[in-house]
Parts: sequence; C-alpha cells; structure tokens
Amino acid sequence: MPEIFTVLGARPQFIKAAPVSRALARVGLSESIVHTGQHFDALMSDIFFDELDIPKPAYNLEVNSLGHGAMTGRMLEKLEEAMLAEKPDLVLIYGDTNSTIAGALAAAKLNIPVAHVEAGLRSFNRRMPEEINRVVADHVSALLFCPTRAAVANLGAEGIVKGVHAVGDVMYDTTLAAVKRAEGRSTIIETLGLTPGGYAVATIHRAENTDDPERFDRVVAWLEAAARETPVVMPVHPRTRKLLASRGLNPAGLTLIDPVGYLDMARLLSRATAVFTDSGGLQKEAYFHRVPCVTLRDETEWVETVEAGWNRLWTSKDYAPRRDITDYGSGDAATSIARHIADLLAD
Ligand code: UD1
Ligand code: UDP
Repeated sequence: MPEIFTVLGARPQFIKAAPVSRALARVGLSESIVHTGQHFDALMSDIFFDELDIPKPAYNLEVNSLGHGAMTGRMLEKLEEAMLAEKPDLVLIYGDTNSTIAGALAAAKLNIPVAHVEAGLRSFNRRMPEEINRVVADHVSALLFCPTRAAVANLGAEGIVKGVHAVGDVMYDTTLAAVKRAEGRSTIIETLGLTPGGYAVATIHRAENTDDPERFDRVVAWLEAAARETPVVMPVHPRTRKLLASRGLNPAGLTLIDPVGYLDMARLLSRATAVFTDSGGLQKEAYFHRVPCVTLRDETEWVETVEAGWNRLWTSKDYAPRRDITDYGSGDAATSIARHIADLLAD
C-alpha cells in the first residue's frame, strides 16, 4: 500500500491536516505523521490532536524555539533520517511555516514527490518568513493544492501549472466539522461571561507585529482603542505572551486568555461581532462564521476576503461591498486532495 509521510509542526497545520487525514484513510492510503515539535505546549499542539481526532504522530523531532536557520536546518536533518527509514511514496506538507519548508527540502533532496496543501498563496512581501517558505515549497512540489483562484494565478505567474489543483480550503472542511462538535461541548462564552453578539475576538503573533517594539505598541494601541467600543477577548500566542511579559505590558480593556482549543475558537467566532487579527487562518474563519474582520497587517494573502467585503486591512478605512466568496468550496477540499494523491500514486 502506498505510504504518505505527513510533516506537521505548528498549530494551523494540525487544523488543516485533520480532514485530510480522514480523507486519506477513506481512499485507502496509509499515512504516517511526523511532528517536528515546532509547537509544543499542550494548548498549541496536543489539544488539536485530541479534539480533531488526528492520528498520533509516529515521530516527534522536538525541534523548536530556535532562529530560522537553526530550526529549519535541524528539522531538515532529522526529517531526512525519518524519510530514509520510512521510504514514503509521497511527502505531504501544509502551509508556510519552517516545518513546511524543512519537509519540502528533505523530500525534494531524496527525490520523493511533495504534495503541498495551501499552495500558491503570496503576500508579495519577501520580508515575511512565511513568504520565503511558500515560494520554495511550491517550487519543489509535484502536487499543489490551491485554496483560491488567486493562488492558482500566483503559481501561473511563476510558471507553475503542472500538478496544480484548485480544491477549495481544507480549513472550511475543519470549520464545518468543528461547528457541529462545538455545540454542547464548548462553554467558553459562559465561562468568560461574554454576551453572545457583544464581543470581538483578537489574536496577534506574526513576526512583523512582534519583532519590532514600536510596531507592537501600535498594534496594542489599536486593540485598546477597539476595546473601548466593544469587549475584546484575546487568546494569547506564547510568542506574544513572552513579549507582553518582557515589556511589562497589560493592555487596557482586553481580556487576555491562554490559547484556546479549536472547538472553543469555533464557538467564540460563531457569536462574535468582529475579528481583529494578523493570523492567516482567522481571516478566513471570520468569513466562515460571517463575522467581519480587520487584519492588522499591511497586506494579506487572502485577497478574496477583502474583495468580498468581509475583511479589511487596518491601513484602509472601509470594507468593499459585501458578497459571498465561492473559492473555498463546499467543505470537501480534503476529499479532492486525497483523490488527487491516490491518482498520482496509482500512475
Ligand atoms: C509559526 C510560523 C508562523 C505561523 C505560526 C502559527 C514560522 C517561521 N512561523 O510562528 O508562520 O503563523 O507558527 O501559530 O514557522 N512557543 C512556545 N510554545 C509553543 C510554541 C511556540 O513557547 O507551543 C514559543 C517559542 O519558544 C518561540 C515563539 O513561541 O519563542 C515562536 O515560536 P515559533 O515556532 O518560532 O514561531 P511562531 O511565532 O509560532
Ligand atoms: N486558533 C485556535 N486557538 C487560538 C488561536 C488560534 O484554535 O487560541 C486557531 C484558529 O482558529 C486558526 C488557527 O489556529 O484555525 C490559526 O493559527 P495561527 O493564527 O496560529 O496561525 P496562522 O494561521 O496565522 O499561520
């Protein structure tokens, strides 16, 4: 039976992998998961494996908390060892983190075909670590699963047309499953004493907002101003928690909480009035829950959310006229991905 080797490491990758793992099993493919260890706190990792029924990783490489070169390099070395031992027929990677690029490079150098879920996204800002990871991962992939039409066009502009499939967004698949599960299992709104329809959800963690203290202060000031209008609840990424602690900041009016699991996040989003974020995933999830979003960045890869009036950059005042977005599919992106992988391996 063909063997798929899936490389995961960071929170958004667990969330994307959940429906794909189930779909691979449905089409009869065998999957072995390697966790690079990039995210390691229980609330950044284990909780998603438990809540979303993701198969337990066969390996944990325990590489984390390092600079880009050291992190990517150590992952590359350990992933190569694991791939040599497992001899997979295909390596599956997700998104744009250091775990993604390490998985892509390790496989490419061993001549193992790579399948990239969430291919073709571009911010056109090469100062972002994620942008470099995306470009390199896409250029060594044999199968490129695009969540949007813009992503397909971006790949075309770089000369990548073979193996490109517009399949929709696997995060939409995850959201649909989570909304059902969250009902009756998540009590976060009651626990936090929030009024349904009377609060906003915020998250901040991107390097561009957390590496430069002056920029971070502007982001915090923006959130404090928003909190004067509506209560803001903010699950805090460990990177941001460290920064708040080291700078002795306690933003006024924000309810800061530990990172939450996916079911709690789905329930929080389902009753929120707004989302303020620099997260890629949350920009789309805001739309999935039909909640307007303000993206605290100077550009976004998810251009259709802005064009359809559900998202705006904090640098722009108004939303475009609102309409539905058709790109993300109907919750069956994972099934399409599994079928394309099975077809490639059958050839
Ligand atoms: C990474 C990704 C980013 C993605 C984000 C998702 C890269 C270059 N960046 O950023 O694209 O949006 O994940 O959340 O891959 N930490 C903990 N506990 C954890 C995880 C992290 O304390 O469970 C700390 C680390 O020790 C480090 C900091 O958070 O000090 C940043 O972690 P790192 O994995 O380097 O990058 P992220 O900011 O999480
Ligand atoms: N998320 C979560 N709990 C949190 C914060 C985020 O479950 O406390 C989910 C969020 O709903 C989305 C994903 O994590 O599905 C986004 O991950 P993150 O913002 O860390 O990374 P990005 O998408 O920016 O790469």
